[in-house]
Amino acid sequence: MQGAALLAAALAALSVLQGVPRGAAAQRAVNQFPDDFYFGASTASYQIEGAWDEDGKGESIWDHMLHTQPNLTADGNNGDVAADSYHKYKEDVQALVGLNANVYRFSLSWPRILPTGDTDNINQAGIDHYNDVIDELLANGIQPMMTLYHWDLPQELQKLGGWPNIVLADYFVEYARIAFENFGDRVKLWLTFNEPDIFSIGYATANGLAPGANSSGIADYLMAKTIMLAHARVYKLYDEQFREAQQGRVGITLDCDWYEPLTNSTEDADAAERQLQFQLGMYAHPIFSDSGDFPEVVKQRVAANSEAEGRTRSRLPTLSQEEIDFIKGTADFMGLNHYSTSLATSGLKGSIPSKDYDTGVITSAIEGYPTGEGMTDVPWGLRKLLNWVHEKYPGYQIFITENGFADPPGVLNDTGRIHYHRGYLSAVLRAINEDDVPVIGYSVWALIDTLEWMSGYTRKFGLYNVDFDDPERPRTAKASVSVLGQIYQSKEVPLQDFEDADTMPPVL
Ligand code: GCO
Repeated sequence: MQGAALLAAALAALSVLQGVPRGAAAQRAVNQFPDDFYFGASTASYQIEGAWDEDGKGESIWDHMLHTQPNLTADGNNGDVAADSYHKYKEDVQALVGLNANVYRFSLSWPRILPTGDTDNINQAGIDHYNDVIDELLANGIQPMMTLYHWDLPQELQKLGGWPNIVLADYFVEYARIAFENFGDRVKLWLTFNEPDIFSIGYATANGLAPGANSSGIADYLMAKTIMLAHARVYKLYDEQFREAQQGRVGITLDCDWYEPLTNSTEDADAAERQLQFQLGMYAHPIFSDSGDFPEVVKQRVAANSEAEGRTRSRLPTLSQEEIDFIKGTADFMGLNHYSTSLATSGLKGSIPSKDYDTGVITSAIEGYPTGEGMTDVPWGLRKLLNWVHEKYPGYQIFITENGFADPPGVLNDTGRIHYHRGYLSAVLRAINEDDVPVIGYSVWALIDTLEWMSGYTRKFGLYNVDFDDPERPRTAKASVSVLGQIYQSKEVPLQDFEDADTMPPVL
């Protein structure tokens, strides 16, 4: 062996001894993922499919909002064509092959399958389309992971008020049944909802996300009850009628950044914890905790503010003991989307009433780390979040369903993204191998450039560039594809990169 090779071998041997992972991890080096780890990339129907009214598809709340208010997004664009993945899905599958991915997380467009949201009209062309996508994935050795709801509600159901109306749970269950019946023979990984915390913004604000219901501090809480019950009912539907034959797993995707206390005061520690509870606990606690229900701190603060506003009951809906018991434990794993870390301190912000005001936390950017378009690259924040989740909700495996870095348009040599993913994957490794957190998968947001909601095409998360000015929407691999492709293939982060990554929080 030559000097450098000798040194590398010695370092590798040493690293195994140093970080000696416990249990099943004992056979692995600290920079290696478990053999059965899922490596993938994610997308969502409205953000990539286009073909907004083709082959019988109905109108979604996003179609409706961006057609009736064309200048709402940063660049005036909408998802009418997007990356045209409805027609170009085979290229997307080849993009996954180029990445050595073994899983693809994508979402079903509800109005493509049920144009009115209900079962009076089942659009076979929509079902055929997703069958084609699934078959193409499987033919290429890639597991489909299907999100049932990534925000494109059929507009017909918005006429009923959308998610704040509890009746939506009935519609969602029937839609899910159609998905399980048609795709469940081949789809083994299911997610009911994507990020209720974020899409609740569409109910709180007028010009945020769709539908723009503008009912801050009220509709965004009302929908939480519908979502929890709809999720639980779909989980039980799968459990009772499909699990035995299909042998799949059902989870939900929740989102959370990490919040580090601004100072080492107890007040700031409480503020950071409160922020995590209002953002993640709100939807995680009812499903994943031992006691169930919304978190205590959320219930108390919303009730106290509601009373101060002169209301006779809390703006946060109540879950009955029967509902609490019904929702508790309805997941086979937790899907977690994570992007960045901020600082938290106690303080009032937001209008009255609002979730922000109820939370009572002021967040600020953390300095001294690389930044992307609207995010900071702080890998240890993910490690801390994974530990927090595992401590609060032990017994559940975690699938990181999104983690990603945004660039301005046109960056093909995406060194910022490469730095970000090396760091965050190293943080995941530390969480698995050193902290014993059961993380089972990692899926990058996003496989290709997408319509980034209100940012239109001004923020790019794709591993593959999409030229939105070209009618052919060509995909071009960014530099990150070969770096991630190498990690996905070898199931390890190169030792030097792993050791260089900022996965340890600074000592305050
Ligand atoms: C979300 C969604 C994605 C976004 C991504 C980047 O988190 O908002 O799941 O659809 O595009 O997170 O913002």
